[in-house]
Amino acid sequence: MLRKSNTAEPRDLGDQFALLVSGVVDYGIFMLDPTGVIVTWNEGAQRIKGYAAGEIIGRHFSVFYPAEEVRNRKPDWELEVARREGRYEEEGWRVRKDGTRFWANVIITALRDESGRLRGFGKVTRDLTERRAEEIQRNLDREKEALQLRAHAERMAELERTKTHFLNLASHELRGPLTVVRGYNSMLADGSIPADQIPAISRLLEIKLAQMDRLIEQMLDTARLEHDALDPPEEIFNLGSVVQEQIDVFRPLSEGRRLLLDGGELEVLAKGDRLRIATIVANLLDSALKYSPDSGDVQIRVGVRDSQAFISVRDTGLGIAPEHLPRLFTRFGRLPTNENATIPGTGLGLYLCKEIAIRHGGDVTVVSVPGAGSEFTLTLPACK
Ligand SMILES: Nc1ncnc2c1ncn2[C@@H]1O[C@H](COP(=O)(O)OP(=O)(O)OP(=O)(O)O)[C@@H](O)[C@H]1O
Ligand SMILES: [Mg+2]
Repeated sequence: MLRKSNTAEPRDLGDQFALLVSGVVDYGIFMLDPTGVIVTWNEGAQRIKGYAAGEIIGRHFSVFYPAEEVRNRKPDWELEVARREGRYEEEGWRVRKDGTRFWANVIITALRDESGRLRGFGKVTRDLTERRAEEIQRNLDREKEALQLRAHAERMAELERTKTHFLNLASHELRGPLTVVRGYNSMLADGSIPADQIPAISRLLEIKLAQMDRLIEQMLDTARLEHDALDPPEEIFNLGSVVQEQIDVFRPLSEGRRLLLDGGELEVLAKGDRLRIATIVANLLDSALKYSPDSGDVQIRVGVRDSQAFISVRDTGLGIAPEHLPRLFTRFGRLPTNENATIPGTGLGLYLCKEIAIRHGGDVTVVSVPGAGSEFTLTLPACK
């Protein structure tokens, strides 16, 4: 940008050039004598640095530098480089008259006469503060984008691992019951099962089918949670009857252990998805039996405590070591115990229990003593 000057008509080319320079407003253009004292000043320099010509001509150009650079004699060093090499260029912080800093592009050129004697320096300064701010912003944006991309990639990798886990689980955990079903089916086909044993075998097949059902249901629920698409319907129901039903389902699997219910006659109302709450109770009963292979009864209680409905399931089984507790409710969180080498499971049960409970405004918690047993408690907001 060039501003029109209202001074008298220039006489020769040198004057015209001086006039041109003085009117440039986007660049600070001025001259220094060989010692660094300012001898000319233009409009751009005034605009960028804030000094009028009258107050800056005659002063040393080091006033434009931050104090620490003056202490380090950087201004002199720059003149020295320009003197030696003809030119010095850099980007750096400079100081305005009002003390504020700006980011400058600076070019210092040594000016010599025909005999090679140093007459002084020409200095061109550009204010790049805005450009630098934009650059910093662009870099920040770029970094943010990179972070988002990385987070996305990590999430995809996590999904990929989950998928692999799912496939391994599906094949491994479904194969067991499937083998049993196929075995009995071929025996039924070739007539090698006496007629009177068929009802018992049918019950066994029913259990195996239920296992497969449960596994598929667990995997579907896990996938639904992954997409946050698990909206519990709002139904009011009696927790006592849910517990009673599940005890009836598990009694045939209890292998002589008793499933004792306390509070089943009470009316304890809860609100939400009855089927999913039943799934939680089923998971807790399943684990209580599974992880107490050769011991004791399972004690189940239903009631209201501190204005919360609760169902607790206590076993006298293996118990859980304190250091394993953080893993208990995580997805695929099977515990690394010796017993788990032979006890089948997916590690999805408690994860789903807790997630479903939380979505109902409740929770699942545990108290456990290794070697003595565990008590899991489901709490839900009580309905009046
Ligand atoms: N009642 C319990 N007593 C001792 N350990 C338990 C009990 N319940 C769960 N655990 C431990 O916590 C782990 C996670 O339990 P969770 O119910 O989530 O999975 P799982 O029982 O392995 O598989 P799933 O329930 O899906 O068939 C189990 O592998 C087991 O080691
Ligand atoms: Mg379980």
